[in-house]
Amino acid sequence: MENETTTNTIALLDISPPHGGQLVNRMLRGQMRQAVQERAETLKKINLSPMNLSDLELIATGAMSPLSGFMGQTDYERVVKEMRLSNNLLWSIPVTLAISSEDAVGIETDQEVALCENGHVLAIMEIAEKYVYDKEQEAELVYGTKDEAHPGVARLNKQGDVLLGGDIWVVDLPAAAKSEFPELRHSPAQTRRMFARRGWRRIVGFQTRNPIHRAHEYIQKAALEIVDGLFLHPLVGETKADDIPADVRIASYEAILRDYYPAESVLLGVFPAAMRYAGPREAIFHALLRKNYGCTHFIVGRDHAGVGNYYGTYDAQQIFNDFTREEVGIEILPFDYTFFCRKCGMVVSSKTCPHGREDWIYLSGTQVREMLERGEMLPPEFTRPEVSKVLLDGIKNNNEVDKSDG
Ligand code: ADX
Repeated sequence: MENETTTNTIALLDISPPHGGQLVNRMLRGQMRQAVQERAETLKKINLSPMNLSDLELIATGAMSPLSGFMGQTDYERVVKEMRLSNNLLWSIPVTLAISSEDAVGIETDQEVALCENGHVLAIMEIAEKYVYDKEQEAELVYGTKDEAHPGVARLNKQGDVLLGGDIWVVDLPAAAKSEFPELRHSPAQTRRMFARRGWRRIVGFQTRNPIHRAHEYIQKAALEIVDGLFLHPLVGETKADDIPADVRIASYEAILRDYYPAESVLLGVFPAAMRYAGPREAIFHALLRKNYGCTHFIVGRDHAGVGNYYGTYDAQQIFNDFTREEVGIEILPFDYTFFCRKCGMVVSSKTCPHGREDWIYLSGTQVREMLERGEMLPPEFTRPEVSKVLLDGIKNNNEVDKSDG
C-alpha cells in the first residue's frame, strides 16, 4: 500500500544517507539544458568509451555520489594508492576519462568540451585538469596484477595515455538508458522513493553479472530473512565477451521472479555500470553505489567481481576489515561459498553441511557453457529449469545471429 504521509516518506529517505551525505544530480533540464546543448555544439567533441558512457549515467543520476565528474589528479592518485578521495572519503575505483595524446593536443584547462556518444552530445565538461598517469601502477594497485589477460588490465592498457578531470553537466543520457531495460533502470532517487513507499527500512542489495542460479537464490533469500526488502540489481553495462549477455541474464530473473519471489519484498532494477573485474576493490565500489541507491545492506559472496584466479575466494569480504563500518556506511553481509548438497537436499555451505564433496553439486562456468552449447538442461539442483530454458534459448539465438553474420 502506498499510503505513507509525506513526513514518513522523508524520514524513510534518510535511513541510508548517500556516500558523502548528498545525492548528486548532474542532469540539466528546461532552458538551462537547451542553452548548454546549443553551446556544446560549438565545443570540441570527445566520443566516450562504453565504460565512460556507463560512468556518465552513474554520475548524472547520483549513483556515484559524491562524484560530480571525472577525477582530477589528486583524487585519482589518492584513490589508486589509498582508496580515498582527496577529502578522505572512502573510494576504491578510479573513475577517469582517458583520451589519446593526439586528441589531447589543444585541450587546455578551464576550457569546456562536449562529451558525446558517436557524435551526439550528452554532456559538457569543464576541464579542471589534464594529466598523465601511470598505468602499471593502476594495474598493480587496483587490479592486483599487470597481466594483460586480466580484462580490466587489458582495457586499461588499451585506453588513452592522458586523463581529463572535471565536473560534468549532462543534457542527455546514453542511448542504452532509453533502449535497454528502460522500465528497470531506476535512478537512485527513484529507488529511494520506491523503498520508502513500500515501507522498507532495511534493504539488501544484490550485485550480479551472471544468470541466476540456486546458490544466488539461496543467499538472496537468506539475506532477505533479516531485512525488509531485497533489491536485485544485475549489472548491465559492458562485460567481457564470454559473459552471458545482459538481456539473457535479465530474462533469467524474469523467468523465476513471479513464481519464486514475493513481489512485496523484492524489487528488480538494473545497474548501468561496466564491470571492472577488480575483485575486492570493486566490491567496495559496488557497495558504495548500492548505498547511494538507498540500500542499507549489501551481499558479498565468494570471489565477488572476480575473474580467473586473480583474487582469493574471500578477499572481497576481507577488504572491508580495513575500514570502519561508519565510513563504509552500508552493512556487508558476507556469504561463504554455497552449493547444493544431495544428502541435505538443499543449498548449503561447508559451514552448514556435514557431508563431503561427493554429495555436493558444483559446476564451473566452463562446464555450464559446455552443457548449454550441447543443448543440455543444467541440473535442477544447480539452476531452476525455467532458467535453463532461458539460457538454452539465449545460446540458440546467439548462434543463429553468429551464423547469419558469418
Ligand atoms: S559478480 O562478478 O557480480 O560478483 P556473480 O554474478 O557470479 O558475479 O555473483 C553475484 C554475487 O553472488 C557476488 O556477491 C558473489 O560473491 C555471490 N556468489 C555467486 N556465486 C556464489 C556461490 N556459489 N556462493 C556464494 N556466493 C556466491
